[in-house]
Amino acid sequence: MMWYKNAVFYEVNVRAFADSDGNGHGDLPGLTQKLDYLQYLGVDCLWLMPIFQSPLRDDGYDISDYFSIQPAFGNVDDFKVLVAEAHRRGMKILTDLVMNHTSDQHPWFRSARSSRNSPYRDYYVWSDTPDKYPDARIIFVDTETSNWSWDEQAGQYYWHRFYASQPDLNYENPAVRQAMLDALKFWLDLGIDGFRADAVPYLFEREGTICENLPETHAYLKQVRAFMDENYPGTILLAEANQWPEDVRPYFGDGDEFHMGFHFPVMPRIFISLRSQSKEDLVWIMNRTPQIPENCQWCTFLRNHDELTLEMVIPDKREWMWQEYAPDPRMRLNLGIRRRLAPLLDNDPARIRLAFALLFSLPGSPIIYYGDEIGMGDNIDLFDRNGVRTPMQWNAGPNAGFSTAAPEDLYAPVIADPQYAPAKVNVESQLADPDSLLNTLRNLLAIHKGRPELAWGTFAWLETGDLAVFACQRDWMGQTLVAVCNLADTERAVKVEMPSAGEWSDLLSGRAWLTDGLELPIHLSGSQYLWLVKSWGYAAETIPGEPQVGI
Ligand code: GLC
Repeated sequence: MMWYKNAVFYEVNVRAFADSDGNGHGDLPGLTQKLDYLQYLGVDCLWLMPIFQSPLRDDGYDISDYFSIQPAFGNVDDFKVLVAEAHRRGMKILTDLVMNHTSDQHPWFRSARSSRNSPYRDYYVWSDTPDKYPDARIIFVDTETSNWSWDEQAGQYYWHRFYASQPDLNYENPAVRQAMLDALKFWLDLGIDGFRADAVPYLFEREGTICENLPETHAYLKQVRAFMDENYPGTILLAEANQWPEDVRPYFGDGDEFHMGFHFPVMPRIFISLRSQSKEDLVWIMNRTPQIPENCQWCTFLRNHDELTLEMVIPDKREWMWQEYAPDPRMRLNLGIRRRLAPLLDNDPARIRLAFALLFSLPGSPIIYYGDEIGMGDNIDLFDRNGVRTPMQWNAGPNAGFSTAAPEDLYAPVIADPQYAPAKVNVESQLADPDSLLNTLRNLLAIHKGRPELAWGTFAWLETGDLAVFACQRDWMGQTLVAVCNLADTERAVKVEMPSAGEWSDLLSGRAWLTDGLELPIHLSGSQYLWLVKSWGYAAETIPGEPQVGI
């Protein structure tokens, strides 16, 4: 039942993935056709970004009908086929669940703003002044100046935590709470395996608070969970709560709220560690990460469809991150960086591989953002976060094999920068190359899945005597794995404190090392990573005495 504790997740932007009917937009049948590819990569569960009816002012996070699919993406029958085909391959599907707000084009809001007597007026949060809840921060700081917007037609201000085109629902209203359960039920009845629940900290508002993480919000989310457990056992809820670890912890409740939560604060610290070539910040955040109930799991990631958020980073470090990773102001957005993984890491294959290996060495089930498995680039000339949502690059042909539409009819242009263009970066050529990023990742994922101690196990730091060398011990049901990552791009000679003496082999290269004490002297090449396990019965080449460079 706890499949999510050792699963590989993959975030798909349906619009960007594969266009089956040549209208320039990716669609559900297109995604269905690519399931074999995702299975090859080793994906266990897909998270689909919103696919519901929407004016697409926030790429579908502005829903105008919770019960139908955006026509350009297909219809409910296509969705049923996708679910069936994914399940046939042993893969699961989560959809996005946008609970906090709707589009201003949703019939509820249209009716609500039209009259104070509308039965839907109370579905939203209104005020005669823009002064209430002054302690709530603004999230989209680059575009919004207030969480209140005046609505001429309504004659009142309405509350919104994101774009003004996304009015917040009023969770004080029992009808709203029920309406969201109805939406959930509709999709669960179609056989999906759960939801990535969007923006959950903001459901309720209370004067005198920051209007985040309120007890009322947790109480409602627990009801949602109870509803799912009772009617759809085995389905899961994944929380998008961009908060400090101690504030995310309550979203797991006593194992009765969310099954999973993204680990937001660890993400920027992976990038900090890579650039500063020091594990200090990672140590700090891991030590600040609380235990979670047995039936819960973190979801860890490097990048997603949004800007690389620096909200959970202190202002000095945020400045430093911007300088290091977003030297061009156009790379910055709100409190973050709107770039993809490969460009962030200077398209350096060794650094990109290390970033993934480091991610997979930490507790949690990892999620991969579509396109990052082949090292896709970004386009900072596109508005908002669209630059990291460009068409998937399947081959070196027209439109990168994404669509047969005329290039000007694509929902967004294919990456043109020669370093990242389809001629250079595409699935087809990487499938054919055993040493490609795609195949390296596939191999890492296969090993990761076979060693549940990596996802599930306990986590303890191991001494290396060098801040540039990360080492940790992961234990699960009597199995131990030691992960060692050289964060530096230069060679390092260190002594890793091992849990026990004996012969240790690297699962990635097959090399083995003998240690008679608890210290393993080891030479690491720049950006090298090892996953060491005890060699019992392992047919590896044993190198006694002076340690060798692994790979
Ligand atoms: C979440 C989504 C983001 C969206 C916002 C408002 O943070 O990840 O893409 O803009 O919610 O729905």
